[in-house]
Amino acid sequence: MTTNDTGGSGTAAETASAPASAAAPARRRSPRTTDFGYQRVPWEQKKARVRGVFDSVAPRYDLMNDVMSAGLHRLWKRFTVERTGLKPGQTALDVAAGSGDLALGLARRVGASGRVLVTDINASMLRQGRDRLLDAGIAGNVAFVQADAEALPFASRRFHCVTIGFGLRNVTDKAAALGEMYRVLKPGGRLLVLEFSKPLLGPLEPLYDLYSFQVLPRLGRLLASDEDSYRYLAESIRRHPDQDTLLRTMEKQGFERCRYYNLSAGIVALHVGFRL
Ligand SMILES: C[S@@+](CC[C@H](N)C(=O)[O-])C[C@H]1O[C@@H](n2cnc3c(N)ncnc32)[C@H](O)[C@@H]1O
Repeated sequence: MTTNDTGGSGTAAETASAPASAAAPARRRSPRTTDFGYQRVPWEQKKARVRGVFDSVAPRYDLMNDVMSAGLHRLWKRFTVERTGLKPGQTALDVAAGSGDLALGLARRVGASGRVLVTDINASMLRQGRDRLLDAGIAGNVAFVQADAEALPFASRRFHCVTIGFGLRNVTDKAAALGEMYRVLKPGGRLLVLEFSKPLLGPLEPLYDLYSFQVLPRLGRLLASDEDSYRYLAESIRRHPDQDTLLRTMEKQGFERCRYYNLSAGIVALHVGFRL
């Protein structure tokens, strides 16, 4: 999120009239950094680090989703697809589609006369999505494109609906990605962002922390031989902007009639906004 990211501090310009000996040494521009979980990493390195996570988890991604969420992710995604308002014959884009759960729901809604573009920055995840949709017998009206959410390779005003499920928190420049999703929506089109958010668990919060930081990484080690990626998952959730902050970022990118639904006590939130 841009507000979390440090831009360069700027170089202190020396005044022309100051004698060389009295001039303060020029401050070096500090490199731009961003969050990768709880680490700060150079801005331009985050994509490669995120790619490493998803290359590693791709083969076990669906199993882990079911185990980690006790199957709840299916309900969150079903709710998201219901809120798209898509009709047969319309065109939809799923960004950061991964193994394609949302894309499958979109494809079923728009039917054979509609069209769904399924995109992900990561070839290994996109392959999972393609296999999932082909196995489900969905082929003719779907296309798969490897693409970065920050630079979508599509014409403006093309889609009736854009979805991004559990993808935004991994994107380096979230405002840029939201701006791109706005650009490719038709006027009247809608964006749905399904993402982990700030839970409203009150006294149960320590349990959520215990689950996130102790149980999740162990599950990752047991089921996917990958503890670090699941530690990143827990940390990246904590670094992601809360419900209201994300809503304001959407509004800044031009979205209107923005609102969000807290799901499972805000562990996850679905944000919806329109390009009018
Ligand atoms: C947690 S998975 C979510 C997959 C799927 N949408 C779901 O709901 O199960 C996050 C996905 O975001 C993708 N991703 C990360 N950064 C991205 C970017 N800059 N542009 C597009 N996809 C990205 C990853 O490759 C990964 O497939």
